[in-house]
Amino acid sequence: MERIDKILSNLGHGTRKEVKALLKKGLVEIDGVIASDSATKVDPDKAVIKVSGEEINYRKYIYLIMNKPAGVVSATVDKHDETVIDLIDHEYHAFDPFPIGRLDKDTVGLLLITNDGELNHKLIAPKNHVNKVYYAEINKFVDAGNVNTFKKGVVIDDGYKCMPAILDIINADENGSEVLITIQEGKFHQVKRMFESIDKKVVFLRRVSFGPLKLDEDLLEGQCRELSEQEISLLKEI
Ligand code: URA
Repeated sequence: MERIDKILSNLGHGTRKEVKALLKKGLVEIDGVIASDSATKVDPDKAVIKVSGEEINYRKYIYLIMNKPAGVVSATVDKHDETVIDLIDHEYHAFDPFPIGRLDKDTVGLLLITNDGELNHKLIAPKNHVNKVYYAEINKFVDAGNVNTFKKGVVIDDGYKCMPAILDIINADENGSEVLITIQEGKFHQVKRMFESIDKKVVFLRRVSFGPLKLDEDLLEGQCRELSEQEISLLKEI
């Protein structure tokens, strides 16, 4: 059981003071009865709560999948740049959402956003071997030797030996290559640094899948949607 003023203010219906005013005005209903006392205790999972006649959609956690555009940073706040949180609907801001892992400012594609700290830890821990697949455009010819090097674990600039990665060549010639690369870690600039270590440059990077989830074809860059119950369960099973 939780206080009604806390529930409503956590869901973005205003500060505790503003919510108190809503209650005083008789605008809040719990199971059909007007509640005017802010200290009223309620089980938000069971009760039907209405504010100004509209039923509220109570949940503790939110889970969003975004097709991140280029030019925004994967952070909650930033002094200079727009963040992925700036792009999501304001109704979600009261949940204090944050991105799961990071994509570089110029990387596009699948980014999960939540306020579920436990799931976040699980999905970013390398020991859980969650596959992240990226589509990458490379400035040079990528060959079978490179596939082998990545499979063994490439050593990047700071001496770190990456976990084995799968490189699938979509097409390659002297002008450049298109590849899919699957990694299980999320070190800073990891894919770019892996290619730098074989003297090549990533010129475009899009994350196309994260564990069991794939990037929606119909999600335009900058858009996001809530995950379905089934998608949330798939992530929690990892
Ligand atoms: N690897 C990178 O280099 N950048 C990203 O944004 C993600 C993985």
